Amino acid sequence: MNEEVQPIGVICAMESEARIFIESLSNATHEKIFDLTFHCGTIERRPVVVVQCGIGKVNAGRVSQLMIDKFNPQVIINSGVAGGVSLDLHVNDVVIADGLIEHDFDLRGFGKAKGYVFWGDDITKPSIFETDRRTSNALRVACEKALGVSRVHIGRIVSGDQFISSSEIRNALHAEYAATAVEMEGAAVAHVCSLCGVPFAILRTISDLADGSATESDDEVVTNAAAAARIAIEAIKLL
Ligand code: ADE
Repeated sequence: MNEEVQPIGVICAMESEARIFIESLSNATHEKIFDLTFHCGTIERRPVVVVQCGIGKVNAGRVSQLMIDKFNPQVIINSGVAGGVSLDLHVNDVVIADGLIEHDFDLRGFGKAKGYVFWGDDITKPSIFETDRRTSNALRVACEKALGVSRVHIGRIVSGDQFISSSEIRNALHAEYAATAVEMEGAAVAHVCSLCGVPFAILRTISDLADGSATESDDEVVTNAAAAARIAIEAIKLL
């Protein structure tokens, strides 16, 4: 392995999902930083570093910055589950983000649009963090191979520190942000990566429709998260 090559960073919220990446690593070592374990190794000779961040934007943002500072990744991939917002989504479909918004960031009291986070010049619109095209394309190719074209969606993912389980809120996210899916970490990874100039990509398997009708058990959510991880591993082999 060329020691100069920057690793591909992988950030997952859940332990069950991080485990799938960790088990795929060859020549694995690990490094403890505070409460976190960064797992380093290779997937088909590509250096990869994997970490579980926990749920929510603070955890995801903090771990993104630590990963950038300590491991200098060439790109960060965040994979996991999301609630479907577009009405054409089904449970088990996948969404690859083209852009991310922090839907709960609200400075309307200071004359800014909801979702404007001091990224971009237009304060009348939410800030959109754009994903890395090459990595997102590799994810799309891997998803379409695994699931078929009809179950793969490219679109906007919005993140906030709320589990959305109301069709009213879901519909508002669609109307306000043209959101395809909602989750709790992606935009924080995107925000930190954008501030640091690090490319990033976000892959989510739909675990529920964000309307309170979720009947999925914890086991099914874990299965969905695992599906996203397996696809991301195939995509890493294409990078
Ligand atoms: N992750 C998976 N489903 C979600 C939802 N409905 N809201 C927020 N994050 C999620």
